[in-house]
Amino acid sequence: MEFKVKDLSLAGRGRIQVEWAERHMPVLVKLRDMYSGKRPLEGVRISASLHVTKETAVLVRTLQAWGASVSLAPCNPLSTQDDVAAALVEDGVSVFAWRGMSSDEYFWAIRVVGSRDPDIVMDDGSDLHVTLHEELGDRALKVWGGTEETTTGVIRLRALEKAGRLLYPVIAVNNARTKYLFDNRYGTGQSTVDGILRATNMLLAGKTAVVAGYGWVGRGVAMRLRGMGARVIVTEVDPVRALEAVMDGFEVMPMARAARIGDILVTATGNRDVIRAEHMLEMKDGAILANAGHFNVEVSVEDLERISVSRRTLRPYVEEYVLKNGKRLYLLAEGRLVNLVAAEGHPSEVMDMSFSNQALAVLYIRENRGKLEPRVYDIPPGQDEMVARLKLETMGVEIDELTEEQRRYLESWKA
Ligand code: NAD
Ligand code: ADE
Repeated sequence: MEFKVKDLSLAGRGRIQVEWAERHMPVLVKLRDMYSGKRPLEGVRISASLHVTKETAVLVRTLQAWGASVSLAPCNPLSTQDDVAAALVEDGVSVFAWRGMSSDEYFWAIRVVGSRDPDIVMDDGSDLHVTLHEELGDRALKVWGGTEETTTGVIRLRALEKAGRLLYPVIAVNNARTKYLFDNRYGTGQSTVDGILRATNMLLAGKTAVVAGYGWVGRGVAMRLRGMGARVIVTEVDPVRALEAVMDGFEVMPMARAARIGDILVTATGNRDVIRAEHMLEMKDGAILANAGHFNVEVSVEDLERISVSRRTLRPYVEEYVLKNGKRLYLLAEGRLVNLVAAEGHPSEVMDMSFSNQALAVLYIRENRGKLEPRVYDIPPGQDEMVARLKLETMGVEIDELTEEQRRYLESWKA
């Protein structure tokens, strides 16, 4: 078996982390048990580009229990948990990932897993899907289908579809309600604050925080920063979402104004150059910059380097930049996803639902092999309800059921 990880001797520690995650992912474990007797993925080759975390390990073990063989690359050069990567190798997974990969090493790993003749491709951000389409087209043509975990990845795939260049069907797992409502909002909300605190240990109470973007991620981050006592300002480009932020009780203003007053600025837009030189030059001395969006393009690190005279590492994942105007700015996690680089990503309870959706989407692709067009699909009907019901069940929460009369009433146009 081929693999490349930092240190195989970390496997024991990684195994305990995976055990901890598994305890908090009851829905995925239940699904694993439901289908493992049937081995529905027997002989199926899966290539995946996902954050190599303890939660991803629970997903990969589920796919293995269903009979799949899995090759795993990271979807970010800085998010790999090296102990988990080692444990996965011991479990027979071909992992090509370690924390602190260079950009070349990262894309090497993506190409390696893309070249392993996958039947199914799982991705978070679409670097693997795009690499298969651009560089490994002969292999892409043989892929039965794929899945995509995050908003930015779905946007890229829809652009590929619109250009008429998508070569296989992809299920947009991100668009499941049991994904974005919980993972993007509560998962990123909590783990972004966690990342900022682990990196800086700063007090949030009384600080002015600026959150760029009031989508699912931005809402969660703004809500949790407010919960810690920060005064939160939101920036937006969508008038409806800006209005929603106003009515949720946040101050809303353009970045040009917010940049002058923020103590900490967090981007969550999926867009590029949201914080750039013109904003940085106006910032307070000591302002902290962090990103929760998928790629490291939201805070323009290029601009920051261009307008700085020096740079030094103060603490893990805290870089101090001294600007030409004498002000000091602090960039967390090199502008990459602060929650996965400086902390451990979303808590397992949230990934339980996201990865149950991933696992079910993989089963759907297997069952519908050859029947789907090369398009971006939402998750199959009923899947959200199934995942939500199982989650509620594992939480011990019961809900009402419609009576026959109520069902008829809701389907009727008569009073
Ligand atoms: P979304 O589409 O729901 O929200 C993005 C928001 O940003 C939109 O409201 C949009 O109008 C706004 N926006 C775009 N450009 C802007 C600009 N220049 N200034 C201010 N606002 C702007 O997307 P989402 O689900 O919230 O995801 C946001 C990003 O976070 C994506 O890159 C996604 O892939 C990523 N993500 C990260 C994690 C994580 O673990 N860190 C988890 C889920 C999603
Ligand atoms: N994305 C966000 N948090 C994650 C986690 N804990 N594991 C895998 N992918 C993630």
